[in-house]
Amino acid sequence: MAEVRIEHLEKRFDDTLAIRDLNLAIADGEFLTLLGPSGCGKTTTLRCIAGLERQSAGDIRIGRRLVNSLAPGERDVAMVFQFYALYPHLTVYDNMAFPLKTRKVARGEVDERVRRAAGLLNIAHLLDRKPRALSGGEQQRVALGRAIVREPQVFLLDEPLTNLDPRLRSATRVEIKRLQRTLGTTMVYVTHDQTEALSMSQRIAVMNGGELQQVGSPLEIYNRPATVFIAGFVGRPPMNLLDCSLAEDGQAALHDRLGRHVYSLPPPQHHRIAASPNHDRLVFGIRPEDITILPEPDSTGLPSRILVREQHGDVTLYDVVVSEKMFRVQTAAAFRLPVGETVTLEFNELKAHVFDRTTGRAIF
Ligand SMILES: Nc1ncnc2c1ncn2[C@@H]1O[C@H](COP(=O)(O)OP(=O)(O)OP(=O)(O)O)[C@@H](O)[C@H]1O
Ligand SMILES: [Mg+2]
Repeated sequence: MAEVRIEHLEKRFDDTLAIRDLNLAIADGEFLTLLGPSGCGKTTTLRCIAGLERQSAGDIRIGRRLVNSLAPGERDVAMVFQFYALYPHLTVYDNMAFPLKTRKVARGEVDERVRRAAGLLNIAHLLDRKPRALSGGEQQRVALGRAIVREPQVFLLDEPLTNLDPRLRSATRVEIKRLQRTLGTTMVYVTHDQTEALSMSQRIAVMNGGELQQVGSPLEIYNRPATVFIAGFVGRPPMNLLDCSLAEDGQAALHDRLGRHVYSLPPPQHHRIAASPNHDRLVFGIRPEDITILPEPDSTGLPSRILVREQHGDVTLYDVVVSEKMFRVQTAAAFRLPVGETVTLEFNELKAHVFDRTTGRAIF
């Protein structure tokens, strides 16, 4: 077990700057997720930690050791890849024992570690099988087992659940989480799936375009996204976002691009926007569950019309027109209004977000 400390990490591939000035400290025993869209640099970051890729600049420390120039085998980390390459001609037992045998661990010790890991992963009954006789989920557990037997200081997992069907994915999610708790080993887990990140992690590090944009607990990331990108990326259905500016007539309100009223600003929010340099280029954000639909016209709220209603069993989702855009609103399942109805929307002001459109950063 060890902490991982990344300082000013940069990675170039010829002309591509895959990672820029990344700073991140992962605590000893922590479960940290790297979350971001395809191509944002998650795998590259993981491969730099593992030593499979040499960084262009910056330092990586594992525990007290500066590992910049150490080979992967000397770093005491175990990586599990998205495409878990098991040796097809070896049994499950031999696949799991393989990394220990190459390290010349004594036979009795190998046997003990393989059986202990197999027990943890519920694959003890599969030890004599070959990989082709296993389901995808079972193969995934063998790949995890092969990492566990090494008893590394750090686990690095790169989208390990991608190849599993949705039901198995959620079951394996719970298992990986439980395993990490049991072993207490530092884990860096890569995914582009925000549900995985929110449900598994102690902290999430969100990346976009090679840049680390925010590090925080799942609730911090969800409730206080630091950038407009994160606001739209984390949360299903996503946060409603609308280009706005501070009202030009001196009112404490946000107007859309056509100058129509969108949101009345309470005094503290008004002050923060007035103090920010780009208050003519803003993005207003509100999550679907933070909007209330009032069935009747109401002079204080925003008039709107229902375009689509979707019943989801536990909740009902409405598509409503706001400005020239569509907003999604989530209500209790029992709340039912017909399509075409004219309604009023109220935004929960404690849950409203405003971003600077020039920098993409949150103002509140
Ligand atoms: N070996 C390489 N040579 C050149 N460019 C690369 C190489 N590996 C990665 N890149 C580029 O670096 C950037 C980051 O890639 P990376 O694989 O880290 O993304 P990712 O976040 O893991 O994406 P995904 O979710 O698709 O796996 C991309 O623009 C990619 O094209
Ligand atoms: Mg990747």
